[in-house]
Amino acid sequence: MSEKIVSVVRGTGSALPARIMRNQDFAGVVETSDEWIRQRTGIEQRHIAGEGETTVSLAEAAARRALEAAGLVAADIDLIVLATATPDNTFPASAVHVQHRLGISSGFAFDVHAVCSGFLYALTTADMYLKCGQAKRALVIGAETFSRILDWEDRSTCVLFGDGAGAVVLEGVPEGDPSGRGILVAKLRSDGAHKDKLFVDGGPSTTGTVGHLRMQGREVFKHAVGMITDVIEACFEAAQIGPDDIDWFVPHQANRRIIDASAKKLGIDIDKVVVTVDRHGNTSAASIPLAVDTAVRDGRIKPGDLVLLEAMGGGFTWGAVLVRW
Ligand code: UT7
Repeated sequence: MSEKIVSVVRGTGSALPARIMRNQDFAGVVETSDEWIRQRTGIEQRHIAGEGETTVSLAEAAARRALEAAGLVAADIDLIVLATATPDNTFPASAVHVQHRLGISSGFAFDVHAVCSGFLYALTTADMYLKCGQAKRALVIGAETFSRILDWEDRSTCVLFGDGAGAVVLEGVPEGDPSGRGILVAKLRSDGAHKDKLFVDGGPSTTGTVGHLRMQGREVFKHAVGMITDVIEACFEAAQIGPDDIDWFVPHQANRRIIDASAKKLGIDIDKVVVTVDRHGNTSAASIPLAVDTAVRDGRIKPGDLVLLEAMGGGFTWGAVLVRW
């Protein structure tokens, strides 16, 4: 029988557009205020892609930093899974574009689409390919340019989102290392009954246009905490652990109030929660790897730590992944 493989994180990286848009910069764009945005969401600023900055360029930059952190080169990678809802082109996949820009011409690359939960879907997908031996080392990337699908006249959505990318390098290694490192448990969920609460009103097969993001924010909010806590509790049960065993909780960064309420309901100490929504806004599939890379580089997340990742978004899709870093 072939040996069991576990997927270990070897390095992380991230990239943000150069331009920062602060809450105050919405003056003259829509009727809003710094106070409203901070109080309702915790967001203070977000990065907005400029000319020449795209999902692929941000993904490539994040991937290069992750490779450097892992002490690897592009040729070591034989799988790229890129999560995005804002690809450079309808096709081919942004992942193959990144693969080419990194100079890789072997292995395989593809996109996954689960909006804000995309990074967890991508991580879980890459984990499966490594476990079954189809690939040895994977780049898992979350990259978005949501600024390009926002309705800049709709104050209920345009203040919430930002652009960016984050990446991790995963390596498949034989199970049994005493450090116990690797992806331990993943629980993914979706329910298309909630499609109309958060969607884009265009697409290649319907309008032939890209469309704009539409959200019933209050409705999404109503479901978020319950869905997040349910799937995390399923993770805890599968891993036979509790909230006190977690070293770091890295939730999807949509709204500070959702993050705080979820941590409180689960009994996770607020000091263990990684928060970047204040600086990045909601970057959809990029939000978790951006937050992870921030906490790795500032020395919070260290090898051996038990890290809980969580996301919820359009679809609805949601999920949680537990990683021994
Ligand atoms: O990543 C995918 C997951 N997405 C989310 O998790 C988002 C979930 N939803 C939310 O985070 C919140 O629902 C929002 C931040 C989007 C909105 O907060 P809320 O407390 O649910 O506000 P609301 O939508 O109930 O709106 C309250 C008021 C409304 O005015 P009235 O009807 O009470 O007079 C809105 O028109 O705030 C008004 N409003 C604004 N005011 C100033 C909406 N947007 C703005 C704005 N500035 N930008």
